[in-house]
Amino acid sequence: FEVNWDAEAAEKGGYEHFMIKEIYEQSKAVRETMSARIAKDDSAIVMDELKWNKEFLNSIRKIFIVACGTAYHAGFVGKYYIEKLARIPVEVDIASEFRYRSPIIDDRTLTIVISQSGETSDTLAALKEAKRLGSKTLAVTNVVGSSIAREADQVVYTWAGPEIAVASTKAYTTQLIMMFMLSLYMSEIKKTIEKDYTKHLIGALRQVPSQIHEILEDVEPIKTFAQKYGFNEDVFFIGRSLDYAVALEGSLKLKEISYIHAEAYAAGELKHGTLALIIEGVPVIALATQESVYEKTLSNIKEVKARDAVVIGIALANDDQIEKYVDHIIKVPTTDELLAPLLAVVPLQLLAYYAAITRGCDVDKPRNLAKSVTVE
Ligand code: G6P
Repeated sequence: FEVNWDAEAAEKGGYEHFMIKEIYEQSKAVRETMSARIAKDDSAIVMDELKWNKEFLNSIRKIFIVACGTAYHAGFVGKYYIEKLARIPVEVDIASEFRYRSPIIDDRTLTIVISQSGETSDTLAALKEAKRLGSKTLAVTNVVGSSIAREADQVVYTWAGPEIAVASTKAYTTQLIMMFMLSLYMSEIKKTIEKDYTKHLIGALRQVPSQIHEILEDVEPIKTFAQKYGFNEDVFFIGRSLDYAVALEGSLKLKEISYIHAEAYAAGELKHGTLALIIEGVPVIALATQESVYEKTLSNIKEVKARDAVVIGIALANDDQIEKYVDHIIKVPTTDELLAPLLAVVPLQLLAYYAAITRGCDVDKPRNLAKSVTVE
């Protein structure tokens, strides 16, 4: 594979900030990351770049996903995908934790490191440690020939193109696509899911780029929420299952660029602490895209509403119940629940972006943060 990054692509191209440009580039980035890896008849994922034989892939008994920041959040989604589709146990670790603990690794362990830049020092060190302990390693990265790409046994590239803004957006969505495709690829080798289900998921996957585009066609309501709630000092994100993984990323985006204190909570865990902080007028972003836990999520929404929180619900277009329980609603196109994170995260990125603008923050270069952390 060849990736050509020309100088022009690295400019803002008419957008006010790199971040918003990169948010808008997601549809294309996602399409490019997936298209060459789907079989023509939509029956399977093709991973020609993986040089492992099927016997090795079939022998894997344990997977670690190791990363930092946004890539770590992509790892959470990846865990869910791999366990659900390929039925291999997965642990997700922050690289700076993994490298200093004693992970249990043998030759049937695969360590997947995710890194946009391919240069994050903790992730690189964790990768070296995994190798030293005898794990096979796979890098998911956006930069061809980066240190992490060179160090790992195998590498698969996301094709997001250059990401300049410190807050990661299109790298995250392409990482999700990659984790989804890897999971489907492994599921075929392990024969863990039916062929029809694979076809259904690939069909849904193909629609994601145009669905992202659809969300980006009307950002006005999100802008309005950001202007209205942008001066609150605390915001909570809640969700269950994959919605929880997206909540983590949504809260990180808000913290990074708008400096609003944001906390993501697994909705079922609220009552074990966070509920004490939910008082009148506190904004709660409630994600409810997961069919399998939908009713449970609704109960949690009712819990925060009962404390007079202001609830902004994020739901699928075919949801005709949620309106009754929330103050505001943002709908994303209907998709399979496994792919919902790719759509649900987009309004959260926009919310963070417009909140930062409302507060006059330097969106592309937030204080104290760097795009690539190459020191420990
Ligand atoms: C920094 C960036 C984050 C990024 C993280 C990991 O903290 O500000 O946006 O998610 O590093 O970077 P990587 O290049 O390894 O994905």
